[in-house]
Amino acid sequence: MNQKSDKTFYITTPIFYVNSVPHTGHAYTSVLADIIARYHRSLGEETFFLSGTDEHGQKIVRSAEKAGMEPQSFVDKNAKSFQDLYEKLNVSNDAFIRTSDRKAHFPGPEKLWRIFEEKGDIYKDVYQGLYCIGCEKFMSERDLNEEGKCPDHDEFPQVVEEENYFFRISKYQDRVREAIEIDELQILPASKKEEVLGLLKEPLEDISFSRPVGTVPWGIPVPGDPTQMMYVWCDALSNYISALGFGREGDKNFQKFWPADVHIIGKDILRFHAIYWPAMLLSAELPLPKKILVHGFITSGGKKMSKTLGNVIDPNEYVEQYGTDGFRYYLGREVSPFSDGDLTREKFVESYNGNLAHGIGNLFSRTTKMAEKYFNGSVARTSGVSAPLLQDAVGFGEEAPIYHVPYYFEHRVLPEYMEQMDALAVNEAADAVWDFVKVLDGYITDYEPFKLIKTDKEKTELVLWNVLYGLYVLSDLLAPFIPEAAKEIRHSLGAKLGDTPTETTFTVKPPKKPLFQKIESDEA
Ligand code: MSP
Repeated sequence: MNQKSDKTFYITTPIFYVNSVPHTGHAYTSVLADIIARYHRSLGEETFFLSGTDEHGQKIVRSAEKAGMEPQSFVDKNAKSFQDLYEKLNVSNDAFIRTSDRKAHFPGPEKLWRIFEEKGDIYKDVYQGLYCIGCEKFMSERDLNEEGKCPDHDEFPQVVEEENYFFRISKYQDRVREAIEIDELQILPASKKEEVLGLLKEPLEDISFSRPVGTVPWGIPVPGDPTQMMYVWCDALSNYISALGFGREGDKNFQKFWPADVHIIGKDILRFHAIYWPAMLLSAELPLPKKILVHGFITSGGKKMSKTLGNVIDPNEYVEQYGTDGFRYYLGREVSPFSDGDLTREKFVESYNGNLAHGIGNLFSRTTKMAEKYFNGSVARTSGVSAPLLQDAVGFGEEAPIYHVPYYFEHRVLPEYMEQMDALAVNEAADAVWDFVKVLDGYITDYEPFKLIKTDKEKTELVLWNVLYGLYVLSDLLAPFIPEAAKEIRHSLGAKLGDTPTETTFTVKPPKKPLFQKIESDEA
């Protein structure tokens, strides 16, 4: 990889509510987006990776009051806990947008609002209905449980009658449906595309687009009407373009990066990303995002994480105990982006020990040790190999030639990895890497360099060169998932990440400590 490319790549996470501190669900969205962003950077694409926080609304006001703080200081404090987590998780976002940022964010939604108004897509009306502050959304009777409470928050919704601005979403329904049907706006996985198309079969009701200042004093005032605050749709969804400079002087990032290549979202926010946001963009005559990846939920022991159940997993704990790469690995490899994924200590430890401490860690440690012991760390590609012979090798058959690792990598591992990464199936791309680890382990088992050294030094060097080469190219593929360990592998082989594999001589220095320390059962 590490080619040059003229392409740009724009990827976003949702912006997180800052009414509480981040949990593992938030960590998942971010790590998933980070893996994809790092992969695109490695392809040489100019990449912009955006994340941020959603800081307005009634729920924030309520949480701030409980904490005895002003909304601004409250959101400042909690936004920081998201940014701190990003540091810990080694998330490589290029920008972090906060919706309470008057300079960076407000001009975007304000400009959008004015455009909608000019188009005649906004009108004022009286809204009567039920509102759940926990969800920050208007509810219909259908959304409530038998007691008439919000099932997610176990609270009765408020009965509200108020003046709101409405957005004429109905006007764009057909166009949104068509864009999704023909994958102009691709929704992944296919089951989520179907879900959205199902929602689009019924006529859409226009959506409430503002709330009275008296009820929601903390937000972005509606341009030209100080009695109303923008409701979450225009305030929050607009972050994807405000962060690029839309609405501000010098919007060159907007010109360069919009439309987004991928919006990453969780399944609970599908409706407004797949229907409301495209409708807003159509109204503003802006291009639609190319893809929306809808991931599942991280469950804790098979159950939804909730404060009531007391099973909320704090990502900080895992990172502190098992390291950033260990935690990133689990989220990238053991969770499919297309369905729910479970995290428990047992599952974590089993996968970590099997695939990191043992798997890649063990392969790396024994290969580098042999290189040092038998060849003083300097392992050359011996003369027995020539390029044409490499072309003949077809993989690992019974009579497999011993000079085939580069060939196997180029023809089997890399295409599979890239195909899965391009399809956003990052866990399957990681599987391709660990399949390769197994192949390299098998290669050592077959050629037994630790015995061969006694009879044939030249052939042993060739065998070790091949495995080192395998580790060398592997580290590039691992870098989006476990960036620090990948760097360490390259470093120990005397090469930098991103170096193009050549017919190189490896200058090996085995690391002083294991790449991944095994977790003993009393530490789990
Ligand atoms: N602020 C809105 C999004 C506005 S985007 C313009 C929001 N925030 S959130 O903090 O509640 O959720 C942020 C993301 O975290 C969502 O994609 C949500 O699906 C995801 N997750 C929340 N809990 C989750 C799990 N347990 N597992 C995986 N992701 C989950 O919604």
